Amino acid sequence: MQNNLSIKNKKLKTEILFQKNYITKFIYNIAKKNEKVFCILDTKIKIDLNLSKQKKIEIISIKCGEKIKSYDGYKNLSEKLIKNNINRRSVIIAIGGGTLGDLVGFVASTVLRGIDFFLVPTTLLSQVDSSIGGKNGINTIYGKNLLGTFYQPKQVLIDISVLNSLSKREIRAGYAEIVKHALIRDYSFFCWLEENAIKLLNLNKYILEKAIYKSLMIKLHYVIKDEKELLLDNNSRAMLNFGHTIGHAIESHYGYKKFKHGEAISIGMITEARISNYLGMLSFNDLKRIVTHFKKSGLKIYDTVLTDKKLIKKLTKDKKNFQNIINFSLIDKIGSSIFYKKLNKDKIYKILQHL
Ligand SMILES: NC(=O)c1ccc[n+]([C@@H]2O[C@H](COP(=O)([O-])OP(=O)(O)OC[C@H]3O[C@@H](n4cnc5c(N)ncnc54)[C@H](O)[C@@H]3O)[C@@H](O)[C@H]2O)c1
Ligand SMILES: [Zn+2]
Repeated sequence: MQNNLSIKNKKLKTEILFQKNYITKFIYNIAKKNEKVFCILDTKIKIDLNLSKQKKIEIISIKCGEKIKSYDGYKNLSEKLIKNNINRRSVIIAIGGGTLGDLVGFVASTVLRGIDFFLVPTTLLSQVDSSIGGKNGINTIYGKNLLGTFYQPKQVLIDISVLNSLSKREIRAGYAEIVKHALIRDYSFFCWLEENAIKLLNLNKYILEKAIYKSLMIKLHYVIKDEKELLLDNNSRAMLNFGHTIGHAIESHYGYKKFKHGEAISIGMITEARISNYLGMLSFNDLKRIVTHFKKSGLKIYDTVLTDKKLIKKLTKDKKNFQNIINFSLIDKIGSSIFYKKLNKDKIYKILQHL
């Protein structure tokens, strides 16, 4: 893989750069071209201290996690930017995982009605998924990501050298979204993952880069076809929600504390694959193969809440759902997904009792 591959997409107006050990240079380059740069930084990321001595560059550090995607997180950051005289010629760079990217994207799209922003995703999950596509937002007590906008970053820098400090748990959580991309669209990618998952989880550079690239191309396919999730067919961006209907309900049930997003959607994917099998869409052999791969890669596959009635209540709060009908993006074989299957909540409850 090239060291400085860049994917430019006119339709999306986002450029994706792949460069190792490049974050400091990236910030300096942006500072050269703009009046003022606000770097919003996850406290776990260490950057060159000289950056903070530059007049043009202001660094705001935030301790990250799901809790920053909240009214308080939004208020604190946007008011800090306004207090520090952000203006339309300023730009924002978010350097952190998916929670920071989601919060900063929302802030950038609303403060002064929109400030240009750049993303440097620093978790595997954010490099393969959340940094691409322009969705952002915060959570409410009624569910995840219920307040947000579509707002594309100008550039995304994928720098895999920053992943070395991640825990194994975080790497596995990110891997879950990679497997999701393979399961919904690319059988041969899934076969390749079966061969290479262990190397990937051990951060083998070549394997990692290839997997991130493949994953992003699958995500881009849906985002380019259906940026605002309006299509009603198999190219809909909704296909990326495989595992997320159940996954989001699990996260919300536990107040975003027990599971990381990637863990909740791992359980979600296995459960939704089981539902696909129960409905006669996915063969038992494919289901078994998926479960085997999840187990081998250390991905979670079950939680006791699946049989709890409260989970069904949470499902009806998902923004994709209406009254008692729950929408699922399911799979009919490995590498092939099906646009929203509508299921009644009582039927889901029954299915979940029998899985
Ligand atoms: N916008 C989208 O399209 C989209 C897609 C998928 C997921 N998401 C969202 O992404 C969020 C999850 O993202 P996440 O898993 O990156 O969570 P996160 O941002 O909470 O990061 C996980 C943890 O890793 C730490 N961290 C970040 N970079 C690190 C590094 N390089 N080394 C060590 N520690 C580091 C963080 O401080 C945090 O504790 C969820 O809120 C989910 O809803 C959004
Ligand atoms: Zn996700």
